[in-house]
Amino acid sequence: MLTYAIISAMGKNSEIGINGRLPWNLPADMQRFKELTVGHTVIMGRKTWDSLSVKPLPNRRNIVMTTHPQLIGDNAEIAGDLQEAVAMSQNVENEVFVIGGAKVYAAFEKIASKMYLTKVNGSFAADTFFPITDFTHWRLIEENFIRKNNNNNFDITFQTYEKID
Ligand SMILES: NC(=O)c1ccc[n+]([C@@H]2O[C@H](COP(=O)([O-])OP(=O)(O)OC[C@H]3O[C@@H](n4cnc5c(N)ncnc54)[C@H](OP(=O)(O)O)[C@@H]3O)[C@@H](O)[C@H]2O)c1
Repeated sequence: MLTYAIISAMGKNSEIGINGRLPWNLPADMQRFKELTVGHTVIMGRKTWDSLSVKPLPNRRNIVMTTHPQLIGDNAEIAGDLQEAVAMSQNVENEVFVIGGAKVYAAFEKIASKMYLTKVNGSFAADTFFPITDFTHWRLIEENFIRKNNNNNFDITFQTYEKID
C-alpha cells in the first residue's frame, strides 16, 4: 500500500528554516535523509526546490509543487496542487517522501501515515516552522539518540511516527 511519509528536521521550537535554508549543518541528519529517500519519489515545495544546492536530488524522482511551473525548468516534474501531486505519485512504489517545506507538510498532514522527524536539541533563529502540532493521532514507534560530535554541533534524536487510525 502506498504511504506518504513526511520527513523533517526541527529545532526545540519547531524551527525548520531561515532565509530559504536550513538553520543548521548536521551531516548525520543529511545522511539519514539520503538513506531513507534514495530510490523513492520526493515531493517538495517550490521554495525548498530553490534551496537545493544540487537539483534535482540525485537518484530520486523529484516532484515540485508550484503555481509557477516556469520557475522550475526541466529537472523536476511539476504538480500544481495537492490533487495533482497525489495523482502523479499513485501506484509508483510503497513509500513517497514529503520533504517540505512548511506549506507542503501542511498540505499532506491529513493523508500522510508516517513521519520521520529529527529533533535537533537547540534553539535557532527561524522564519519557517513545522506546521503539525497535534500529535494526538500519531504514535512514536522508534527513537534513536545521536550525541553531538566533531561533525554535528547538536544532539539529535531520530524519531519515527505512525498515524493511529
Ligand atoms: N528542516 C527541514 O526538514 C526542512 C525541510 C524542507 C525545507 N526546509 C526549509 O523550509 C523553508 C521553505 O519552506 P516554505 O514553507 O517557506 O516553502 P515550501 O513549502 O518549500 O514552498 C512553498 C511553495 O510551494 C508551492 N506550494 C506549496 N503548497 C502548494 C500547493 N498545495 N499547491 C501548489 N503549490 C504549492 C508554492 O509555490 P509557488 O509560490 O511557486 O506557487 C509555495 O509558495 C526553507 O527555509 C527550507 O530550507 C526545512
